[in-house]
Amino acid sequence: MAILVTGGAGYIGSHTVVELQEAGYEVVVLDNLSNSSEKSLERVEAITGKKVKFYKADILDREALEDIFAKEDIDSCIHFAGLKAVGESVAKPWEYYNNNITGTLVLVDVMRQHGVKNIIFSSSATVYGSPAFVPITEECPKGQCTNPYGWTKSMLEQILTDLHVADPEWNIVLLRYFNPIGAHKSGTIGENPNGIPNNLMPYITQVAVGKRPELGVFGNDYDTHDGTGVRDYIHVVDLAKGHVKALSKIEEKAGLKLYNLGTGKGYSVLDIVNNFEAATGVKVPYSIKARRPGDIATCYSDASKAKEELGWVAENGIREMCEDSWRWQKNNPNGYDD
Ligand code: NAD
Ligand code: UFG
Repeated sequence: MAILVTGGAGYIGSHTVVELQEAGYEVVVLDNLSNSSEKSLERVEAITGKKVKFYKADILDREALEDIFAKEDIDSCIHFAGLKAVGESVAKPWEYYNNNITGTLVLVDVMRQHGVKNIIFSSSATVYGSPAFVPITEECPKGQCTNPYGWTKSMLEQILTDLHVADPEWNIVLLRYFNPIGAHKSGTIGENPNGIPNNLMPYITQVAVGKRPELGVFGNDYDTHDGTGVRDYIHVVDLAKGHVKALSKIEEKAGLKLYNLGTGKGYSVLDIVNNFEAATGVKVPYSIKARRPGDIATCYSDASKAKEELGWVAENGIREMCEDSWRWQKNNPNGYDD
């Protein structure tokens, strides 16, 4: 029996394939490589010493999915495939709704036709909108998303929930990620953004490596300890391990489950800059810019439900997150293009 990992060549997917293989699972990866490189999977193979069975395919392509489910003995799916750039989603809403929502609808339809009713879905803390309270528990109501990307996550949670209501044979784990950063300790796989990074850590590492002159800090007048935005940064390897733990709920046939995957700690933008400099010894010049539209002041998790029910806690602290992000960037200044 194998686990189908959609989007498995991407940032979080490739780290999860490592953890799955190391935990003894057989893995089949599907990815259309729209935001990734097949080289990530070669590097995964070098880390684990195991082959990764890979299909270059699109989740919108029903025939390709049918073919994979016919050929492979798939038991469960970990579904990472999706477009994730917040700003781009505002400019291209149709493309985001089509790729993320239609793609998932096609995937789950092919799954159920093949009697595979187990899925772990990559959701996001973005579904809380401007959170009603922090730390954010899973009881916190979902909020108004500020962009189409966020709505795809919120809507897909609803769609998968409704699927479970109609057919309780489905086992579904919705994982709401906070802010993944860091990279595998080997420094051989990591985040590989196209063009100018949208997210904080890849921007910092590109400044540190000399590809960009300075970091723009988006606002220093938020109601936080130093005025800059506070987030719950989580090491991508811890996040990947959370998926392996979440498989226990699939194996227990636990029905519909929902977990935050975060550390429970909030760091501001300037805390991250300071921790990065301390961990790496590299200066990160920055200047204060206007607030970025759609940003919220503070977002961090209460991570206790995943601890209690999955036995999962994030093990890496901010120092390791900074060191590991830097090792990946320093060794691969142009990502997988080197
Ligand atoms: P990523 O872009 O590195 O990985 C996504 C992968 O999906 C890519 O390899 C891409 O080529 C593939 N893909 C996209 N559309 C596809 C399609 N139609 N068919 C097949 N493959 C397709 O992103 P990531 O950071 O690894 O994110 C993985 C998942 O986690 C995404 O669903 C993302 O929305 C979600 N998520 C990410 C974050 C974050 O900050 N990185 C936070 C919360 C949730
Ligand atoms: N920031 C800067 N300068 C930059 C980039 C970011 O100051 O160049 C600031 C932002 O204003 C924010 C913080 O750094 O205060 C973090 O920003 P990111 O873009 O790294 O992350 P977000 O919290 O905005 O969003 C991320 C993902 C979303 C996901 C969300 C919640 O990009 O996809 O986390 O999980 F929905």
